[in-house]
Amino acid sequence: MGRKILIVDDETSMREFLAILLGREGYQVESAADAESALARLAERSFDLIISDVKMPGLDGIALLERVKLSWPDTAVLMLTAFTTAEDAVEAMKRGAYDYIAKPFKVEELKILVRNALEKFDLKKENVRLRQELRHRFGGFVGKSRAMGELYTLIEKVGASGSSVLIVGESGTGKELAARALHEQSPRRGKPFVAVNCSAIPENLMESELFGHKKGAFTGAIADQSGLFEQAERGTLFLDEVGELPFLLQAKLLRVLQEKEFRRVGGSEAIKADVRIVAASNRDLQAHIREGSFREDLFYRLNVIMLRMPPLRERVEDIPLLMEHFFHKYAGKGMSGPVVTPDALKVIISYPFPGNVRELENLVERCTVLSGSTLDRASLPPEMLSSSSQVDIPQEGMDLEAYLDALEKRYLLSALEQCHGVKKRAAEFLGLTFRSFRYRLAKFGMDDE
Ligand SMILES: Nc1ncnc2c1ncn2[C@@H]1O[C@H](COP(=O)(O)OP(=O)(O)OP(=O)(O)O)[C@@H](O)[C@H]1O
Ligand SMILES: [Mg+2]
Repeated sequence: MGRKILIVDDETSMREFLAILLGREGYQVESAADAESALARLAERSFDLIISDVKMPGLDGIALLERVKLSWPDTAVLMLTAFTTAEDAVEAMKRGAYDYIAKPFKVEELKILVRNALEKFDLKKENVRLRQELRHRFGGFVGKSRAMGELYTLIEKVGASGSSVLIVGESGTGKELAARALHEQSPRRGKPFVAVNCSAIPENLMESELFGHKKGAFTGAIADQSGLFEQAERGTLFLDEVGELPFLLQAKLLRVLQEKEFRRVGGSEAIKADVRIVAASNRDLQAHIREGSFREDLFYRLNVIMLRMPPLRERVEDIPLLMEHFFHKYAGKGMSGPVVTPDALKVIISYPFPGNVRELENLVERCTVLSGSTLDRASLPPEMLSSSSQVDIPQEGMDLEAYLDALEKRYLLSALEQCHGVKKRAAEFLGLTFRSFRYRLAKFGMDDE
């Protein structure tokens, strides 16, 4: 199929000339008289190449180029400049034009430039595609779903910055793996990565655990002891289950984050802390804030960037790859992948996996031990078989629309009731944006404004 080219020039004769010339070369050519209508055309269909004049009334060619680079990065742009001012050309190249050609030009020259621009962009696209396809693994992660691909990209970007990151996600979704990957992607790699589970340490020991203590600070403090902050110096401190951090310590942590220094328990000397904080929570921290058990100011300090771990049931396409990965982990590398019978796979894929990847890992480990290299329906644990995703539809059929509406209405009412009529909260409570919540209320005539 012919490649699509869009010509943008305010001069009619130039547009017509180019359209005929390139049409004869087998390209599909469209043209626009100004940048605004070119943008409108681009919004409707995709083009492989844009050939644009620089000087045009209204939005000029450079402004068009900028917008194209932003919104249609897969489209190549070739600039036509009437005056061969070096400045114009340099400006265009700097802003991402593939090349430029000065008017008047030789026909052969233009044909070659067009061909090269398209070829080079094909290569670029192919490279991007290959790179994305290779992304079956990243850090300790396995998964090629779009959700995971986006997570990998975000971790790369965020890793390079020194910002605090809050990782949220259900149990077993890989929050700890994400924290480690962030560390590995950061300039702090090679320095310590220290993980602490805030729910596993008794409240009275937590402060000394984090900040260390001086000899004699409390009974049992028989010697000076450094804390995790000192151990993580110039590295990353991972605060797992941060929602469980005792309230008093939340204030102390906040102060350390603000002042970048701390004191050991019983110590008076301020110690500098150069530590990146990555925190994780599998519970809704916003709910903790509402209940008053988590400090809002600390939440904002930790949550400079939020990473959301996608639950496994939202990326079932990763399941076969993960199963193979865990199979090799437990059965040995040399073994060929497990044979999963189709009906077993059906059950696995429709199972909601409340324990996410960890649960899948346990399943594969168990099956490798118990059933060798074939996994059939009978070797699946009973809880998986009973939680079939089948629903019962009445014999006489049903009105799904009406049924779902009624169900939705009940949820809206309950949420409003539980949040004492505060709509913003009720929306949050249901995981809806305020806008979407209001829209739904209006749908049922429940909005009283
Ligand atoms: N995408 C993945 N690829 C490979 N292994 C994974 C992936 N996600 C999680 N795992 C593995 O699953 C297990 C659980 O992951 P991890 O401990 O990071 O989860 P978590 O979100 O911290 O869970 P919890 O909230 O229960 O602490 C680990 O053994 C981890 O290596
Ligand atoms: Mg964890």
